Amino acid sequence: MTGQTVRPGLEGISVAETRLSRVDGEAGELVVGGYPIEILTEHASFEEAVFLLFEDRLPTGTELDRFRSALATRRTVGEAVHGVLCRAAEDGDSAMDALRMGVAAASLGTDADDSREAAKRVVAVVPTIVAAYWRYRQDESPVDPDPELSHAANYLYMLTGERPSDDAVGGIETYLTTVIDHGLNASTFTARTVVSTESDLVSAATAAVGTLKGPLHGGAPGPVLDMLQSVHDSGDPEGYVRDRLDAGERLMGFGHRVYRVRDPRAAVLSAAAERFYAGTDADGFYETVERFESVALDALAEHKPDRRLATNVEFYTAALLHGVGIPRDLFTATFAVGRAGGWMAHCLEQLDDNRLIRPVSTYVGATDRTWTPVDRR
Ligand code: ACO
Repeated sequence: MTGQTVRPGLEGISVAETRLSRVDGEAGELVVGGYPIEILTEHASFEEAVFLLFEDRLPTGTELDRFRSALATRRTVGEAVHGVLCRAAEDGDSAMDALRMGVAAASLGTDADDSREAAKRVVAVVPTIVAAYWRYRQDESPVDPDPELSHAANYLYMLTGERPSDDAVGGIETYLTTVIDHGLNASTFTARTVVSTESDLVSAATAAVGTLKGPLHGGAPGPVLDMLQSVHDSGDPEGYVRDRLDAGERLMGFGHRVYRVRDPRAAVLSAAAERFYAGTDADGFYETVERFESVALDALAEHKPDRRLATNVEFYTAALLHGVGIPRDLFTATFAVGRAGGWMAHCLEQLDDNRLIRPVSTYVGATDRTWTPVDRR
């Protein structure tokens, strides 16, 4: 095919109809499963949000109990996965590399022939894999999942071996639901492409984890925390912002490809972080966070008056996850714990009305070369 317009990065190209989420970058609105993200995160547990995306409706009480139990009974992973995670921790591999290897080694077992059950298993095992890797990295034994705990509470429990506080569970639950889905982002598109070949959901999740790892996608909250901690230590946000912008650097946690106003997820997470830090912020870290945001927004407006640069989701992700006690090195992997729900829902949606995803490319290479034998090159 020749003469076609090339759209690098598929920017502005719609390649799927979806009922899962709608991102409005101009208005700063995110609708997930038919609900504004603010409403969903206020009312839904993570399990309820996953059910909503899988089934396109809210569960009854009985259905929710069954769904929770279906996830809880699928949390364990086999020896092969533990072997891979233990080795990854010993070798100093990053959490996202370990998650990619752990998911790839996971088996769908008896769920392999039913994509709905397989999707539940993938969502259920991601936190187990992240937590087991972390325990191995701390030279500690993995903590078995507790089927009595919710998805969010059990993740925290498996990381520390201790029952988490209600506040910590509330904070992580809000985070996981906030990031569950966000249009056709790169990792979600990857997952849909994999299942469009009629491959399996573990392969889709493995490829999606590899895509999320990249710094242009899920890798920003760690550097945001470094920035906030440095400013908290120096007490000089104005100086930090000025130095970075003067050096031509970007301020992490600000700006977005789609949003031209404040990312609605930043509002949800800042409210959650404010609740979480209230009364526990002895060293004033959260005050630093708020002050930094205000200083940075003023400076960015002056620095780039033609470009509306607002706070994005990663800024308050760093503040909230740090407060809840998630180690910095697990920030992106914790993003995967939440986004796994969206990945699997998109895979089910793709399979419902599948068409192989197979775009075209425009050839710009040579067409008339004369072959030179190797001894004459
Ligand atoms: N700090 C300073 N300047 C910025 C920032 C920022 N955070 N973001 C954009 N700009 C400037 C750019 O330097 C550019 O200026 P120029 O025209 O003089 O070169 C202009 O604004 C436009 O930038 P683009 O790169 O075209 O904007 P794009 O929409 O492609 O980038 C991105 C979006 C990658 C998120 C960018 O804003 C950025 O790098 N932010 C910092 C990193 C970050 O927070 N990443 C997480 C994003 S949220 C998420 O992905 C889930």
